[in-house]
Amino acid sequence: MEFMAIVDAKARTPAGCAVVGIYESEELSTAARQIDKQLAGLIAGLLGSGDFTAKLGDTLMLPLADGSTASRLLLVGLGPRATFGRRQYRKALQASAQALAKTGAGDAMIYLALEPVPELDVQYRARMVSEIFTSHAYKIPDLKTSPKPKARRLSTVHVATADARGEKAAAEGLRVGAAIGSGLAFARDLANLPPNVCTPTYMGNRALQLAKEFPSIKTKVLDAGAIKALKMGAFLAVAQGSEEPPRLIVCEYRGTRKAVAPICLIGKGITFDSGGISLKDPPAMDEMKFDMSGGAAVLGTLRAIAELKLPVNVVAIVAACENLPSGTAVKPADIVTTMSGQTVEILNTDAEGRLVLCDAITYSRRYKPAAVIDVATLTGACIVALGNHISGLMSNTPTLAQELESAGLRADDRAWRLPVGEEYVDQLKSNFADLANVGGREGGACTAGSFLGKFAKDLAWAHLDVAGTAWVSGAQKSGTGRPVPLLVDFLIHRTKAA
Ligand code: BES
Ligand code: MN
Ligand code: ZN
Repeated sequence: MEFMAIVDAKARTPAGCAVVGIYESEELSTAARQIDKQLAGLIAGLLGSGDFTAKLGDTLMLPLADGSTASRLLLVGLGPRATFGRRQYRKALQASAQALAKTGAGDAMIYLALEPVPELDVQYRARMVSEIFTSHAYKIPDLKTSPKPKARRLSTVHVATADARGEKAAAEGLRVGAAIGSGLAFARDLANLPPNVCTPTYMGNRALQLAKEFPSIKTKVLDAGAIKALKMGAFLAVAQGSEEPPRLIVCEYRGTRKAVAPICLIGKGITFDSGGISLKDPPAMDEMKFDMSGGAAVLGTLRAIAELKLPVNVVAIVAACENLPSGTAVKPADIVTTMSGQTVEILNTDAEGRLVLCDAITYSRRYKPAAVIDVATLTGACIVALGNHISGLMSNTPTLAQELESAGLRADDRAWRLPVGEEYVDQLKSNFADLANVGGREGGACTAGSFLGKFAKDLAWAHLDVAGTAWVSGAQKSGTGRPVPLLVDFLIHRTKAA
């Protein structure tokens, strides 16, 4: 899908479909008024007759007679002007994308970004158009044998702006949104593929492909031998139950001078989490193919920033393996030595995420990173705490936490801070090793985060627990790609601050 910004406050651009927003029980928006004039009061008439009430997300598609500038007109309800904000704006865009997909229109002219939205400048308003339209066009890589539905027609999306300055800002926003969209799609593809396809080896190959596609990315994929040489005893303990070999995937993105300290993004890449010897219950175990979503998201983020040629240095590190029960699997009470030298008593083999991540965090030290952010579907407890709307955010560095929280707000990919520290580390005491890998039911997301904090130590570190946000269950079961939007926004703002 192609996106372009155009100066057109008068709604004069010919298009397959013109998309205009209408506020509930109010005078028309600027663009709607222009079009209404061209159409001899058609919109005002529809509102007067009660045929369109402009509730948020309502749409009405109207074919237009020959001679009109557009072949179709899509009215989109914006709800009351007083409550129109970021979420309402996004909802209106989603409804537009959905309605447009049902038509034969090959191109669309969107007038929604002309509307003011509190706290959203024109760049963000345009960015959300390309992000949402790209995401809406996303197709799950399914293996259904029935014939695929025809590819959608909509290939060009224009966004109207008021003036030349707005046009420039919107063009930049469209570029960012499209890159986030492709990063999201990359992450979602990996997450949605079945675990017999998306293995650690497969993830490594996709990361190698990224390096082929983008000269700014260099990828190395470490095998079991190399992981052993690094003394990643915790990571290897998780991997040892499976025939599928583990991979430590390292992608270096160079967007600025070599001397600039990189941000390390670390992803949990458990391509299937059965729980191991501490086996999970069967219901919904299939969803544990999504347990590599953190790894997929950091690779998707790298893809997005490489596309944007963002002037930052970022290293994505994915610890990928399976967690399975077998005769060689790690057992409850086994003690392992992590790469940091600290010993860990594995009391529950289902708390495997923190085991692969702790060694990846230690590995990241070789980059002398400016910050380390790990992303993981780490705990069911985080879902209990925050539900499926907001990711858990834990950190030892308040300024970093603040930056990530703000990025999440701006990107509509929110994260909420949870505590980590000494009190929770106390719950991880072991009689036999430096640490236990579980700390009881209470504050499960925080004990997991605090476990990681014992390895991050002096690093500026943050942890995103995306257990509740990385995928949706039910009829629409699918990876979401979160927190790609949050991370890309965070990195964009880092470049501005520097
Ligand atoms: N991958 C799971 C966490 C998870 C569970 C994510 C359900 C999304 C939905 C993780 O490896 C895990 O099993 N965590 C355990 C930790 C416990 C044993 C301390 C959990 O949350 O039950
Ligand atoms: Mn587990
Ligand atoms: Zn897991």
